[in-house]
Amino acid sequence: KINTGVGTDLITMTRWVLDQQRKVQDASGDLTILLTAIQFGCKFVASKVKQAGLINLLGLTGSSNVQGEDVKKLDVLANDIFKNALVASGKCCFLVSEEDERVMVIEDPSFRGKYIVTFDPLDGSSNIDCGVSIGTIFGIFKVHDDHAPGSKDIIRSGRDLVAAGYCMYGSYVELIVSVGTGLHGFTLDPAIGEFILTHPSIRIPSRGKIYSINEGNYKYFDEPTKKYVDSVKTKYSARYVGSMVADVHRTVLYGGIFGYPADSKSKNGKLRILYEVFPMAYLVEQAGGRASTGKQDALDITPRHIHDRSGVWLGSADDVADLEAFYRA
Ligand code: AHG
Ligand code: MN
Ligand code: MN
Ligand code: MN
Repeated sequence: KINTGVGTDLITMTRWVLDQQRKVQDASGDLTILLTAIQFGCKFVASKVKQAGLINLLGLTGSSNVQGEDVKKLDVLANDIFKNALVASGKCCFLVSEEDERVMVIEDPSFRGKYIVTFDPLDGSSNIDCGVSIGTIFGIFKVHDDHAPGSKDIIRSGRDLVAAGYCMYGSYVELIVSVGTGLHGFTLDPAIGEFILTHPSIRIPSRGKIYSINEGNYKYFDEPTKKYVDSVKTKYSARYVGSMVADVHRTVLYGGIFGYPADSKSKNGKLRILYEVFPMAYLVEQAGGRASTGKQDALDITPRHIHDRSGVWLGSADDVADLEAFYRA
């Protein structure tokens, strides 16, 4: 180990992923290549997010998406960047994106692989034009053994996730990822264009002092949610960015609880199961936290359609347990 006193033994994300691959018996290296493609997508989007105001990339496209939301230029750009990177990796057979109504099927046998990636290319779109942190969220599933991949490979339990992550485009750019061996964070060094391991084996505190929820929806909350919010309001600080990636990242590092519960205005909540709830629930559990609808573990939900939504609370185990107690009372 050469030690000139200067950090010369940097652990890039690429090196870390290869280390993970080495630990897996006769690994094919496919997940390594897939994660490298996702990493490239995050670097590319990060560079466009930083320039957005300078290269006419802010604002609306003038169209709306399957969610009924106004689509921002960066939503479309990020979606195209990730679809191109994922197809080019040659490791995917289906792609599910928030911005695409239908599943993207990779037909070309020379580019088809065994993974399904569900992703939210640009999370927190309402914060793009004002320069507040936004992000990308992804989940990775593997097709079932048989040779006829189909909807059963896509509409499935969150327990089947083999990997997930998010990239936060904030005051620093951080890629948080898990392949089932804990939660790890990589900070982008733009000078060398590499994500460097800065947060190995993240563990979320068992209890925090921050609650994060859009209280503008208070009048729509059900009784358990109202009673819980009233209880934490007396002892915790409130922090709500409005970008799930930013609110989750703060919760994972500082502890506390984030919630977007189902309410009388959004019967199934707002967050989409396959590319927001599942990946974030998986990641928080990998850090020793919990994710729940209030009545069941979030990862145990089974969606019926690719854009199905669910209420979710996630964060420090003790805080989520406190919330669940109000649903049992
Ligand atoms: P997206 O921008 O990908 O559509 O997701 C936005 C989501 C999520 O990022 C955030 O937690 C939530 O919307 C905020 O919703 P409200 O503005 O209703 O609080
Ligand atoms: Mn959206
Ligand atoms: Mn989102
Ligand atoms: Mn989005």
